[in-house]
Amino acid sequence: MIECDRLVKTYERGRVQALRGVSLALERGEQAALMGPSGCGKSTLLNLLGALDRADSGSIRLEGRLLEELRPHHRYRRETVGFVFQSHHLIPALSLLENVALPLAPLRLKRAECRRRASALLDEMGLSERRDFQPADVSGGERQRAAIARALINQPALVLADEPTGSLDSVTGEQVMRFLLDHARQRQATVLIATHNAAIAGLTQRCYRMKDGLLESRGLEDPEPEG
Ligand SMILES: Nc1ncnc2c1ncn2[C@@H]1O[C@H](COP(=O)(O)OP(=O)(O)OP(=O)(O)O)[C@@H](O)[C@H]1O
Ligand SMILES: [Mg+2]
Repeated sequence: MIECDRLVKTYERGRVQALRGVSLALERGEQAALMGPSGCGKSTLLNLLGALDRADSGSIRLEGRLLEELRPHHRYRRETVGFVFQSHHLIPALSLLENVALPLAPLRLKRAECRRRASALLDEMGLSERRDFQPADVSGGERQRAAIARALINQPALVLADEPTGSLDSVTGEQVMRFLLDHARQRQATVLIATHNAAIAGLTQRCYRMKDGLLESRGLEDPEPEG
């Protein structure tokens, strides 16, 4: 579904080598974790896959097509990718429902239809009772579930999550993660989650490990690296 080939990314005019040639291929519907020590390049890789940043060299293909050619990138980000960050980035003045409905705005749907879709997803995330609350008035787990709902509202084919449960306790984190993975599984979305939490990684089919800007293994089911 998405694959990258020998991605290199440096910062500070080459002084920091964040990615030193990362190749990875995710099948449609695959759910994978990305683990590794702080600074090994996980966020950098997710940002490149989500077209939030550009690689120095190497390529990314989405269903065989070069990401570089899928312009404009804001459409790729909006229509294909759902990004979940460690911090929820919800808009404080909006209700959870309004936050979740926000990515639907460019689709020019009727307001009632936007609310209906956002509401249905909030129900699925177990947030029906909280939909009219503002982010500050709900728990951390509820906020993160709302952030996940917002990332999923456009039915992205690719869900990229960067430490999505990093700010939650482990029980809440696992529960939030299950919501994300179940939802994605039902829709055959591809998921890549950067996490330090082995329990979270254990919920996915595969675990890719990174170290010093390189991928160490190609996942549990495919231990023989190729090339
Ligand atoms: N904008 C930036 N400018 C300079 N260096 C950066 C920038 N972003 C990341 N780096 C460096 O690139 C390397 C990889 O960082 P990255 O954020 O991808 O790591 P990570 O695996 O996500 O770490 P963590 O687990 O702490 O989130 C690190 O050495 C980091 O300091
Ligand atoms: Mg990171």
